[in-house]
Amino acid sequence: MKIFKIAFVLIGIILFSCSKETVLETKILSPDSSVEIVFNLTGDGQPTYKIIVNNEEVIKTSSLGFDLKNQSSLNNNFKLINSNVSSFSEVWEMPWGEQIEVENNYNELKIELQEITDLKRKLNIVFKAYDDGVGFRYEFPKQENLSEVYITNENTQFNLTDNHKVWWIPGDWDIYEHLYSTTLFSKIDAKEKANHNDLAQTSIPENAVNTPVTMKTSSGFYLSFHEASLVDYAGMTLKVDTTNLSMVSNLVGSDNNDYKVKRTVPFHTPWRTIQISENASDLIESNLIVNLNEPNKLEDVSWFKPTKYTGIWWEMHLGKSSWDKASGKHGATTENAKAFIDFSAKNNIGAVLVEGWNTGWEHWIGFEDREGVFDFVTPYSDYDLGEVVRYGKEKDVEIVMHHETSAATETYEKQQDTAYALMQSLGIHTVKTGYVGKILPKGEYHHGQYMVNQYNNATIKAAKYQVAINAHEPIKATGLRRTYPNTISREGLRGQEFNAWSSDGGNPPEHLSIVAFTRMLAGPIDYTPGIFDIKFDKYKKNNQVNTTIAQQLALYVVIYSPVQMVADLIENYEGNPALQFIKDVGVDWQKTKVLNGEIGDYVIIARKERNSENWFVGGITDENKREMDISFDFLDAKQVYQAVIYEDGKNAHWDKNPTELNIRKVEITNQSNLKLKLAPGGGFAISIIKSK
Ligand code: NOJ
Ligand code: CA
Repeated sequence: MKIFKIAFVLIGIILFSCSKETVLETKILSPDSSVEIVFNLTGDGQPTYKIIVNNEEVIKTSSLGFDLKNQSSLNNNFKLINSNVSSFSEVWEMPWGEQIEVENNYNELKIELQEITDLKRKLNIVFKAYDDGVGFRYEFPKQENLSEVYITNENTQFNLTDNHKVWWIPGDWDIYEHLYSTTLFSKIDAKEKANHNDLAQTSIPENAVNTPVTMKTSSGFYLSFHEASLVDYAGMTLKVDTTNLSMVSNLVGSDNNDYKVKRTVPFHTPWRTIQISENASDLIESNLIVNLNEPNKLEDVSWFKPTKYTGIWWEMHLGKSSWDKASGKHGATTENAKAFIDFSAKNNIGAVLVEGWNTGWEHWIGFEDREGVFDFVTPYSDYDLGEVVRYGKEKDVEIVMHHETSAATETYEKQQDTAYALMQSLGIHTVKTGYVGKILPKGEYHHGQYMVNQYNNATIKAAKYQVAINAHEPIKATGLRRTYPNTISREGLRGQEFNAWSSDGGNPPEHLSIVAFTRMLAGPIDYTPGIFDIKFDKYKKNNQVNTTIAQQLALYVVIYSPVQMVADLIENYEGNPALQFIKDVGVDWQKTKVLNGEIGDYVIIARKERNSENWFVGGITDENKREMDISFDFLDAKQVYQAVIYEDGKNAHWDKNPTELNIRKVEITNQSNLKLKLAPGGGFAISIIKSK
C-alpha cells in the first residue's frame, strides 16, 4: 500500500509539473495594458504573432521565419520549449535631444523555439510591449547544428486589418530621397515612383515601401512601421501585397552575393517596430525607437555641442559657385569662409560648413572610377584650412568638416584614421559625410549589410577621435544615436537641396507635414531650413522653395536636429528682421510637446530650451490655409512671458507671395490663447522668453 501511495504521489507530481509546462506564457500586455502581443504556433509549427490594442486587433495573425542558403528554411516545424516574461522600467538621459529624460517601460516575452525534426535548430523571438507600440526581434542562440547563417529572406509578416490610408515612399535600396505618396494600401505602386531622373542612384526592385511607413486605420489608430538598432544586418524594406493587405520584410540585397545577410551564431536581428497611437501627435512624442537601442557606449560626449551652422553650400546648389576649383568659381576660398565666420559670430550661430574644400571635385559625379580621388586632408590651394580654423576659433565659431566619399567606400575606409586625426588636431568635432553615386564596390547598395557596416563603423571610429557624424545619403536612422550619440543627424529624405535644382518642381508644400510623421520618427534630420530668398530668380528661374518664409522659420522648431543649418546665402539674411528668430531659437531641448497635428495637413510643436527658461513654438501647414488655436498652458504658472510671433502676412502664399511676414510682440501667460492664421504653404514661429 505504502509503495502505491508513493507512486501515486510521484505520478501526481509528474503530472502537475507537465501541466505546468504546457501553460507556458505566450501573451504579453504593455505596462498600462493597452497593447497586447499574442504569440502562437500553427498546427505545422509555424511561429505567428498578432497585436491587439484596446480590444481591437491592429495586426492580424502574421507569420515569422527565415529562408537560408544551403539549409532548410526556419519557417515551421517548431515546438515551444520555453517562454519567459519580464518587466523593465528605467529613466535615461539624452546627452542632447528633444528632451532630457526618456522613460523606458515595457513588458517582455521571450519565446524559445526548437525544430521538432531534422537538425533541431533553435530560434528565439523576443517581444517587447510598450504603451506606445511594440518591438520584436529574432535571436539565434548558440547551438550545435547552426553556426554560419546566410539569410536569403526574412519572412516577417505584417497582416493589416483593412485597406488603411498610407504615407509611403518606395522601397528603394539606395536612397530615401523620394516624395511621399498618400494612398490607400491597395494602391501602393512603388515601381511607378521610380522616375527620379535627378538622382545619381536609385534601385527599386519590388513593389515595396521603405520605413518608417505610417498608416491611419478607419477606426482612428495610427501605425508606423520601422526598425530599431540596425547593426550588422541589411536594411528592411516592406514588400506589399495589395490584394491581401499584407506586408512582408524584404531585406536589401547585394548583386555580389546570393544571400542578404551573413552572420555567425549567436546573433540577433534588429527590432521590428510598430509605433501605435490614437492621435497623430503621439507618434512624434513616442520614444520607442531610441528605447529599443542599447545605452550610450561612448560615455563622455561633452566634446560635441548642438549648434546652428551656416555653410558654403546653398551657393553651389544654386550654381552661384562650385565645389571644384577648375570651374573658375570656387566657393570654398579662405576669404569666403571668413565671411561666413563673421556672419555666424554676429548672429549666435556656432559653426560653418565648408564644402568643396579638398581636391578631387573635378572627378566627382558620373565618374565610374572614383576610388582614390578624394583624400580628405588636401585642401585646394585657395583654401587655407589652418587659417580658417584659427580665424573661427578667434570668433568662437567651429568649422564643420566635409567628407564627400562619392560612395567610394574603400578609399574612405582607408583614409578615416588620417582624416579624423586631422580633424582632432584642428579641434573640429563635426563632419558631414556624403555618399553620392552608386556604391563602390559595384553591386552593393546603400542600404545593404555591407553599407550598414560602413556607416556604423565610421561612427564608431570617428568617436575615437571625438568626431560626430552628420551623414548624407545615409542608412536610415534606427535609434542608434542612443548607443553612439556621435551619430548626431543625417539626411535620408528629400532635403531642401531638391528645391534648388530638381526638375519636378521641388518639395511640395505638404512635404514636411508628412515628413514629421514618417521620416522624423526615425531620428534627427539635417533638412537645412532657413531659406529667405524663396524664389532665388537671380540664380534659377525655374526653381523655388515651396513654402512661405514663416514656414522656413517654423522648421527650426518642427524638425529636430542637434545641428540645424541656417542654409541661405548670407547676403539674403542681412537686414531682414526675421533673422532675429534664427538668432534666438534653441537647438537643444529640455522638453518637447506636440500641440496638434494631422499627417500631411499640419503640425505644431513646442520645445523648451535646455539651460534656459525659453520656449519656442513652430507650426506648419500644407497647401491649405488654416486658422489654429494655441493654448499656452504648457508654460509655468504665474509667470509673464514676452512672445515674439513671426506669422504669415495677410496675403502670404507659398507661391504668389511667400515673403510677406508679420512680426509682433505680445505678453503671454499660461492662461493665454492665441488664434493664428497660416497661409497656404505657410506657418508661424514664436519665441517665448520669461520676463525678469
Ligand atoms: C549631396 C548632399 O545631400 C548635399 O548636401 C551635398 O552638398 C552634396 N551631396 C555634395 O556632397
Ligand atoms: Ca542628398
